[in-house]
Amino acid sequence: MISSPSKTGNICIVSGDITTLEVDVIVTAANSDLAGGGGVDGAIHDAAGPGLLEECLGLGGCETGSVKLTGGHDLPAKFVIHAVGPVWHGGGQNEEALLASCYRRSLELAVERGARSVAFPAISCGIYGFPIVRAAEIAIGEVATFLATNNQIESVFMVAFGAETRSALESALASANGTGDAQLIVEYRPIGVVHSPFTQMKGTPIQPSRADGARGTVEVFPDFTEGLSDLDGFSHIILLCHLHRSTKSRLKVVPYLDTEPRGLFATRAPCRPNPIGLSVVRLLAIEDNVLSIENVDLLDGTPVLDIKPFVGEFDDHSDVRIGWLDAVRKRRWRADDRFSD
Ligand code: APR
Repeated sequence: MISSPSKTGNICIVSGDITTLEVDVIVTAANSDLAGGGGVDGAIHDAAGPGLLEECLGLGGCETGSVKLTGGHDLPAKFVIHAVGPVWHGGGQNEEALLASCYRRSLELAVERGARSVAFPAISCGIYGFPIVRAAEIAIGEVATFLATNNQIESVFMVAFGAETRSALESALASANGTGDAQLIVEYRPIGVVHSPFTQMKGTPIQPSRADGARGTVEVFPDFTEGLSDLDGFSHIILLCHLHRSTKSRLKVVPYLDTEPRGLFATRAPCRPNPIGLSVVRLLAIEDNVLSIENVDLLDGTPVLDIKPFVGEFDDHSDVRIGWLDAVRKRRWRADDRFSD
């Protein structure tokens, strides 16, 4: 997950089932007896196994607007925070403040337990009947306010179970970002993964052309293997990857070829709002779903988003200007660890 300096940059809206998320904490929409129930709470108890209910029943219940923490039991999440949202009675019974309190106190408790990633469902928006549009504004507003003064939590996933919830969350996030319009959130599924000799950013080649023949492979996942047919006739391929270890984004960087700060989009630095890497590598062979490649400049484990054939005549232009690079390109290329972990 990528963070950006804005207070909403660590918030990610995802669709699907919260029980499957590998995060430090998932929050459930519980009742005040913490006795399990339907909706998201039922799904979480089913996935966590009976140990969760047993632990819950020893907690002495929980007031509306408050939260309690248990282990994750059989869930991929380490902890479950049980938040008791308000039942919607029309808005005159402090429902908004109680809902806000669920989000705030969940994050406070998550921080106390050392969490860095937290996932929320739309608390109170199912059986408890809270209108989703207002609930989404409260949820995003409360989370964004919290993140503005907290550096520990790196990712907050707002989980939308259904299109209506998703659209309400997206609009709320767009408003919080000040963009007004609904923000487009793009999700990609990796089609494969890079295996390379490089396990740390330090020492990983900066460009394929500086990779000195370093070899690696791309393992394409079975669902996508069919798409590899006819690729073997190409000597070079373009790999578009998610630079998964790039955790900060900046809009000005000092590129490794220069000593002056330059606009991010005039560089290929990895610290981008969407850290997508582009590498042109030599394709040595394809065996089933495994591509052997040369001049790999990517970390081991880098998720691959797309593969395209490199075609010189498509990508080569005779009238190319290279901006600030023109003045500095004769300098010695130096090692660069400013993006290292
Ligand atoms: N993953 C993510 N979200 C889910 C999932 C899931 N697996 N299942 C349901 N949801 C969504 C619902 O679509 C809704 O938007 O969670 C949101 C909250 O709905 P409820 O689970 O009904 O929670 P709530 O409205 O707060 O009611 C709480 O329901 O079962 C009980 O014990 C619980 O009594 C309490 C009440």
